[in-house]
Amino acid sequence: MQRTVSYSRTILSQTMPISMANSAGNIHGGEIMKIMDSAAGVAAKRHARSPVVTARVNELEFMTPVHVGDLLICTAELIFVGRTSMEVLVTVEVENLQVEAPPTVALTGYFTMVAIGPDGRPKPVPGLIPETPAEKRRYEERKKIYLERKQAASSARQ
Ligand SMILES: CC(C)(COP(=O)(O)OP(=O)(O)OC[C@H]1O[C@@H](n2cnc3c(N)ncnc32)[C@H](O)[C@@H]1OP(=O)(O)O)[C@@H](O)C(=O)NCCC(=O)NCCS
Repeated sequence: MQRTVSYSRTILSQTMPISMANSAGNIHGGEIMKIMDSAAGVAAKRHARSPVVTARVNELEFMTPVHVGDLLICTAELIFVGRTSMEVLVTVEVENLQVEAPPTVALTGYFTMVAIGPDGRPKPVPGLIPETPAEKRRYEERKKIYLERKQAASSARQ
């Protein structure tokens, strides 16, 4: 079985409460990472239709601060799948609700989620069908990284 990227694309949005802020009024990076992990988890569960765990978080890049009252829009989409693992790109946009301006990208990150079967072990997931030129390009990029990581892990074991 194979599923498209759009099948599992997930958008979570919420306004940022003061309880998530530091004394400067910026939202803690850890709070945002938690929301990103949740969004990645939902997208991966939608694709695999099973429980998942987070195996790796890569290339988290904070570009702009997020403030109390901002609307945070977190989009998670699968960009590659291996046998039991799924690579999810999470993009966080922020929108200042007090001014007339479009949302801007505040941070991005790559989450590797692994599907878990009833026996508690990693379980095979459906294949991924990249459809748009951007999806196809990202799929090939992440496939290369996945294969390089596999090769490095296998060399380290020998
Ligand atoms: C992730 C986990 C299930 C992998 O178990 P494992 O016994 O190493 O299983 P495998 O070696 O068969 O690997 C399963 C898949 O995970 C991938 N994987 C495992 N560790 C990884 C890592 N550190 N980075 C990226 N991918 C990883 C493997 O490449 C494999 O992918 P594939 O099947 O698509 O090729 C296990 O390490 C685990 O449970 N970790 C803790 C997860 C956790 O508690 N997360 C936080 C809360 S959700």
